[in-house]
Amino acid sequence: MKKLYIETMGCQMNKSDSERIAGILSHFDYVETDNEKEADLLIINTCSIRQLAADKAYSKLGVWGKRKKDRPEIKIAICGCVAQQDKEKIRIRAPYVDLIFGTHNIYELPSLIKSIQNNEKVCAITEKPVVCNQNDFKIIRKDSVNAWIPIIEGCNNFCTYCVVPFTRGRERSRRPEEIIQEAKNIIKEGFKEITILGQNVDSYGKDFKDENITLANLLRELNKLDGNFRIRFVTSYPSDITDDLINAVAECEKVCKYFHIPMQSGNSRILKEMNRRYTKDQYYEIVHKIRNRFENVTITSDFIAGFPSETQEEFMDTLKAIDELELDYSNTAAYSPREFTKAGKMVDKFISEDVKSKRLELLNEKNKEACLKSNKKFVGKTLKVLVESKTEKNGKTILNSRADNNKIVHFESDKNYIGDFCNVKITKAQTWCLYGQIIN
Ligand code: SAH
Ligand code: SF4
Ligand code: F3S
Repeated sequence: MKKLYIETMGCQMNKSDSERIAGILSHFDYVETDNEKEADLLIINTCSIRQLAADKAYSKLGVWGKRKKDRPEIKIAICGCVAQQDKEKIRIRAPYVDLIFGTHNIYELPSLIKSIQNNEKVCAITEKPVVCNQNDFKIIRKDSVNAWIPIIEGCNNFCTYCVVPFTRGRERSRRPEEIIQEAKNIIKEGFKEITILGQNVDSYGKDFKDENITLANLLRELNKLDGNFRIRFVTSYPSDITDDLINAVAECEKVCKYFHIPMQSGNSRILKEMNRRYTKDQYYEIVHKIRNRFENVTITSDFIAGFPSETQEEFMDTLKAIDELELDYSNTAAYSPREFTKAGKMVDKFISEDVKSKRLELLNEKNKEACLKSNKKFVGKTLKVLVESKTEKNGKTILNSRADNNKIVHFESDKNYIGDFCNVKITKAQTWCLYGQIIN
């Protein structure tokens, strides 16, 4: 047996990819270790969404390169979004790397691994994905309660700030039969939550010539499977949320009443500059429609502060949106220029680092305020939660769980409820989590 260490950066799609990489390599006698110092094969699965993430990947590679000087037999691989983007250029910065493989080449690993074992240096990056039935390989999942299923990869939207269409390519959906089979395997293995993933999950099926293959119908199919489990889906593109999808979420008792719908900016001019296909008012309409349909629903978002040319007034519209829409939580970031993107070329309109970080600070304060306000709404209510882990604190056992609406809920219990659904009455709200007492 050889030891494998994978360091994963970035989004859930990347984390899911790493579980699949570990699974494929397990067919070649690699077992995963948490201790990178004892690994025979080191893989870094990179993210390129912001410059900082890409820089972190290269600095980690640097550490591994030094280690390889003392132990030349170890193999180093880089994959993920930086690899797909930088390709052979990686060799200039890190000549000691044995294997570079792209986001489209994961299922080529069986042959790639043989090449590096023969001491070849390999770069496998194609624009066309290497496809196969993913169920032919093991998947080594990190979590024991939640399991990810990627259902659509890539993006056709080309938001002007975003590198994802360049690192993940065009949208490609997996066949529904393959997804259902993976879900059945997951349920059989005892997982209690399935999160279906896509950069634009609502685009699912658009690349097939069958109009019945949609996210809404896939949710209906998954909901029909036997077993005590729940279903989530991320990430939704605001204007792609159809009435049929909202109906499906309402009909399917296993589907969580939770929507992650990144707005990016609360100002219509900036949204246009970002090439987002909706206005501020259209986003408001979608949120209102969802809020009117479901009780206790949570809606979360992503926002970028300091997009090129954004004025202070336009930025204030973002803060206003968080308030007016009572968004439950938002991921926030300062704009980071990316290679290949349209906004990355708007150099004369860039906002200074200083102004960007001030705006980000205001955005974070607003998010904190909104999150606390949202959490307070649940005090006194009973939420159905799924227990994910436990922590010992001052001689007491605290169970860490997540409600259907994605809120983190802590409660005390001396029973091991990990992997169980419980009803918890919420007694206290803090900014990032809720506290409660178990009812049953
Ligand atoms: N597909 C999703 C987002 C995927 S990227 C969507 O369309 O909403 C995750 C988040 O990273 C984005 O929502 C955006 O807020 C942020 N992001 C992407 N590119 C960025 C950049 N260049 N600078 C700062 N944040 C960025
Ligand atoms: Fe990036 Fe826009 Fe695609 Fe989301 S929809 S992945 S932000 S290009
Ligand atoms: Fe990062 Fe690639 Fe995901 S750029 S956010 S790892 S799709």
